[in-house]
Amino acid sequence: MSDRVAVLVSGRGSNLRAIFEAIDSGACAAKVVAVGTDKPEAPALDLARTRGVPTFVVAPKAFPSRAAWDEALAAQLVAVAPDFVVLAGFMRIVGAPLLGAFPDRIVNVHPSLLPAFPGAHGPADALKAGVRVTGCTVHFVDAGVDSGKVLAQAVVPILPGDDAASLHSRIQAREHELLPAVIDRLVRGAPEPTIDARKHLVVP
Ligand code: GRF
Repeated sequence: MSDRVAVLVSGRGSNLRAIFEAIDSGACAAKVVAVGTDKPEAPALDLARTRGVPTFVVAPKAFPSRAAWDEALAAQLVAVAPDFVVLAGFMRIVGAPLLGAFPDRIVNVHPSLLPAFPGAHGPADALKAGVRVTGCTVHFVDAGVDSGKVLAQAVVPILPGDDAASLHSRIQAREHELLPAVIDRLVRGAPEPTIDARKHLVVP
């Protein structure tokens, strides 16, 4: 089984926590072999450390150029030889060296129904646009911004009184189901999607 997964994080790590919980419950067949970050202070790192998962930091400030940072990030990941790289709240665009090292093996979770509302403000942009539903997307990463092939999506209604924070928090609850489900499918090489229409959750 191709179950080795490296996870990149920049922040809180609620998606990383969801991956760990799904692994613990047997719902996700992955093995997290490393957790990397661009932010040494990211709380998500502590989650990895308490589980004894190796961590690494590639801070942009430590490199003379964007290209050097891209190379360093790719080298760190190549060294741990993951089958898949998961961006779980990793707030940087990944460059050509990483994309080249793991073609169609990097996935990202994004808080909107792509291709609507790419970029750093998915929930706020959905509110601004006045749409009645939004959600989250797990997709393969390509050279664009949130533009790779969609793997799975979950729908989240926008409720009266929602602000960006309340909406994002309900979206994240669905991310925590969807991302581990997609990772499980990828590591098992499962071919066909299943659709749970009751939950508006389309998982591969
Ligand atoms: C998630 O909402 C994800 O969609 C976006 O960044 C956020 C990360 O949250 N890419 P967390 O660090 O996993 O809590």
